[in-house]
Amino acid sequence: MQPQPLDDLVEAVLSRPDYHHISVDLVRWIGRQEIGKRRNLKEAVKFTRSRLHQIAAAYQEPRVEYGRWLEELSSLPHELDDPRLKDFCRRVMAHHASTRERLPILELFFNRTLSRIAPLHSILDIGCGMNPLALPWMPLAEDITYYGLDIYSDQAAFLNAFLSHTGVSGSVQVHNVLNGLPYNLPRTQVALLLKTLPCLEQLDKTISGRLLETIRASHLVISYPVHSLGGRSKGMLQNYQNHFDILAGQLGWTAERLEFQTELVFIVEL
Ligand SMILES: C[S@@+](CC[C@H](N)C(=O)[O-])C[C@H]1O[C@@H](n2cnc3c(N)ncnc32)[C@H](O)[C@@H]1O
Repeated sequence: MQPQPLDDLVEAVLSRPDYHHISVDLVRWIGRQEIGKRRNLKEAVKFTRSRLHQIAAAYQEPRVEYGRWLEELSSLPHELDDPRLKDFCRRVMAHHASTRERLPILELFFNRTLSRIAPLHSILDIGCGMNPLALPWMPLAEDITYYGLDIYSDQAAFLNAFLSHTGVSGSVQVHNVLNGLPYNLPRTQVALLLKTLPCLEQLDKTISGRLLETIRASHLVISYPVHSLGGRSKGMLQNYQNHFDILAGQLGWTAERLEFQTELVFIVEL
């Protein structure tokens, strides 16, 4: 395939407001495959957009109000345990489908998944979405460093402003993990992959094992959704149990299993 059609596809996809801030690397990754499969560029653009919708845009609202949130954040206290800051975090997390469904169990979720590893000094959060805003509910050490990876530059800028406002070291990077992890990531105490693997597998069925093998962390917290975005369960619990069992078998892992009303979680000590 010639580079020109791929450049044209990337430009066409990014021209839509919904996809404007998405990682160029991911658009190229999907576009390269779609150009190989589709009859013409127009179709390849259409299918690239639809893949991006499935794995990322479907979780976001069409117009995300980062400007207004940043303004509000600037007038809020800096302490993670301040009730006004926590109220802000909850309200903003409600604008991302994945964090929204965790809100009713936020406290319980991080208590049960992370307190055994606490206090947390370092976290890697792969496909983090708005999860950095859940830091106030995590059992953190004073010197916590947080590294988040996701694919939206406007979201990363907002989350980096949040980290800096609250004095948490680290950053959220725009990074397409289908091409592996950033080479300069330090080893962390825990790596979170909260509902991320099913998204990645929609584009690459073999990514999970390869990605998990390269993570340098003492503990992994891997979760799967129990309901689809539309609210149906369709045997998802059993399917994802099987999915994890196969991965754990391949990697020689034993894991602790926790089941919440919206999420199935496995905790692995490496
Ligand atoms: C189901 S959401 C989970 C978000 C968050 N972990 C949570 O539980 O709230 C999946 C996340 O993976 C991100 N994602 C999808 N494909 C990705 C990729 N190739 N590289 C990095 N992140 C990706 C999406 O943007 C989205 O934020």
